Amino acid sequence: MKHILSLFVLMLTAMPVSAQFAIPRDAKLEAKIEKTLQKMTLDEKVGQMLELNLDIMGKYDANRVWQLNETMLDTLISKWKVGSILNAPGTRAATVAQWQEWIRLIQKKSMKYIGIPDIYGLDHNHGVTYTQGGTLFPQPINMAASFNTELVKTGAEITAYESRAGNCPWVYNPVVDLGRDPRWPRIWESYGEDAVVNAKMVTAQIKGYQGDDPNHIDRFHVGTSTKHYFAYGAPWTGKDRTPAYVSPQMLREKYFEPFRAAAIAGTLTMMVNSGSVNGVPLHASYEYLTKWLKEDLGWDGMLVTDWADINSLYTREHVAKDKKDAIRIAINAGIDMSMDPYSVDFCILLKELVQEGKVSMTRIDDAVRRILRVKYRLNLFDEPNTGGKGYEKFGSDEHAQKALQAAEESMVLLKNQGNLLPLTSHSSPLKILLTGPNANQMRCLMGGWSYTWQGSNAEDLAEKYNTIYEAMCNKYGKDNIILEQGVTYRERGRYFEENKPQIEQAVAAAAQADVIIACIGENSYTETPGNLTDLWLSENQRNLVKELAKTGKPIILVLNEGRPRLIADIEPLAKAIVDVLLPGNYGGDALANLLCGDANFSAKMPYTYPKEINSLNTYDYKVSEVVGTMAGAYDYDARVSLQWPFGYGLSYTTYEYSNLKVDKSTFTADDILTVSVDVKNTGSKAGKEAVLLYSSDLVASIVPDNRRLRDFTKIELQPGETKTVTFQLPAKNLAFVGADGRWTLEEGDFLLRVGRLSVPTLCRETKIWSSPNI
Ligand code: BGC
Repeated sequence: MKHILSLFVLMLTAMPVSAQFAIPRDAKLEAKIEKTLQKMTLDEKVGQMLELNLDIMGKYDANRVWQLNETMLDTLISKWKVGSILNAPGTRAATVAQWQEWIRLIQKKSMKYIGIPDIYGLDHNHGVTYTQGGTLFPQPINMAASFNTELVKTGAEITAYESRAGNCPWVYNPVVDLGRDPRWPRIWESYGEDAVVNAKMVTAQIKGYQGDDPNHIDRFHVGTSTKHYFAYGAPWTGKDRTPAYVSPQMLREKYFEPFRAAAIAGTLTMMVNSGSVNGVPLHASYEYLTKWLKEDLGWDGMLVTDWADINSLYTREHVAKDKKDAIRIAINAGIDMSMDPYSVDFCILLKELVQEGKVSMTRIDDAVRRILRVKYRLNLFDEPNTGGKGYEKFGSDEHAQKALQAAEESMVLLKNQGNLLPLTSHSSPLKILLTGPNANQMRCLMGGWSYTWQGSNAEDLAEKYNTIYEAMCNKYGKDNIILEQGVTYRERGRYFEENKPQIEQAVAAAAQADVIIACIGENSYTETPGNLTDLWLSENQRNLVKELAKTGKPIILVLNEGRPRLIADIEPLAKAIVDVLLPGNYGGDALANLLCGDANFSAKMPYTYPKEINSLNTYDYKVSEVVGTMAGAYDYDARVSLQWPFGYGLSYTTYEYSNLKVDKSTFTADDILTVSVDVKNTGSKAGKEAVLLYSSDLVASIVPDNRRLRDFTKIELQPGETKTVTFQLPAKNLAFVGADGRWTLEEGDFLLRVGRLSVPTLCRETKIWSSPNI
């Protein structure tokens, strides 16, 4: 009894004052955590807080096969008690069997020397990036374009299952860095520019990855690391890992929102933004790491750094004088695990800091408790290994079907003049010229984090999938497809390098064709290597389209790119445009199905597609960003000029919205508004339609956003069919963060909008919240 009581006291002291947990705790599990913690030495504790890269534990043999070095592994685990290992050797996908063997050995040593299992982590971002033969879904930006939360959940379930087949229990995903700056090279890794889309998608994804009970995650599910906390996607320069400057209102209202949703959904861990916000590196911020996440939200998960980012505090950010100082700052700020890929110095220095009283034992215990909680929640103590029997569906047709559906639902039809699409060959067969650098490469369909970090040098592992050219040959017959790329990427170069163009050859080939499909965009990249100096699509590619247009043949542009590259000069030359974004292994097949009409388009833009370099707006711009021409002699103006707005997307059928209603013409903060609208399929094809609910606050004490997405859903409609869509909108969701940093819902007029319809409603009473989360 005494023992149980002391455990209880210990647990209480570990709780934040508010003791309101994002997810309810399991008392039995907590007792086990305390029991394990009490037995641990300081060496074991600091060891648990270190994560190393697998690369340092082995090397390539004479046959270029990577071999794990057991002696090295023994030392790292027995001497340094390392708690976590990550990554694939050479960042290249291994086989399921290799993964099982490597992680099994790591677990064997961990249990033998420490009695605590390792937690192995991989960047399985859109499927099992680092496992050969697995299912690669479209990238998250496509999943956002699908506006289909069920698909997102299914994708995560499949990725979890296939990760566990290879014995990996932890994925560095979901990514919910709002993609609000098209220059940033990682916007395709998340769900686009809107906070609600990211929040709803992350909730669905965490359910898919972790299952229904975050306290007890079974052998077919994995732990998540929602990243990169937070405002990583807003660098001032547009370049990766450079400083962001974001207003306090926007930070709380938009950038924090999906992470809050992830905490509530029970994400086991989060990974921290490598950069700084308003001059404060996230890895050094007690306010953001401990206060906002752990205390205010009662989130009891574990915070892991991004790649070597404690070191960045002194090497790059200059807020620490050396590594030891950096460790002191980061651990005291709230970091629980350091991804310090190539060094065990962390253990030595952190131990010294504890002995010198610069990091408290309470902080160390809190960090280790959080790490142990993740391992217990994943049941790794009882079942450190998975894979083998029960995982026969790895890379199966069933999984492929889902990835294909996701690809079809994620390609956005942006233009279709004169109904050029679908491309059906009625009486005589249609001759199609396929051109452009993206026409015959798997790499650019998949994007980064596909078999390798950058998605490069892995064509051999993607051989069994169809490029656009191969899929079009399958669909229309090889004889009817002419391939003349005109512009190609320099595959061994940097992602933006191209070979000397051969535009004349493409133009000559166009003479034989009835229609031209130009597959243009970008090659694969991620992170800092994906930085760019010019948002315009490459000159060669635009010249290719311009020259082809002179032939007078109808042009269809297929945009295959990780971010919206400017194309304002060639857009008018195309009759039809499809943005396939980064659709994954089944992107070629999905596109062929859509182009010929076997499938229907249903995706909408997950971000605003800019038209001008000086107008990189988002859909929720401040109303005052649009300024008409001034009266008198002054001819100034400011306008929002876009190529395609957020939420835009066509289909082979048409929809009519009517009867938009809200059940309350006036409301207060505690009300829930019921908003309904009728949607009718007025065309002749069955289709799916994403229905988006927006609001506008017409007058507010700080400049209001033009409009804000509040909810969305996706429905399926047969020709002629009508469905009523109903949203339950808590009135507090209409609040904004005021000038004083507090959530505020102000008295006054609002408009609720769906499609082109709008309905007014009025807030009767101002409410200002005192708590940071409402
Ligand atoms: C990336 C993270 C990734 C980590 C581990 C970092 O460079 O920023 O997104 O999870 O590496 O591979």
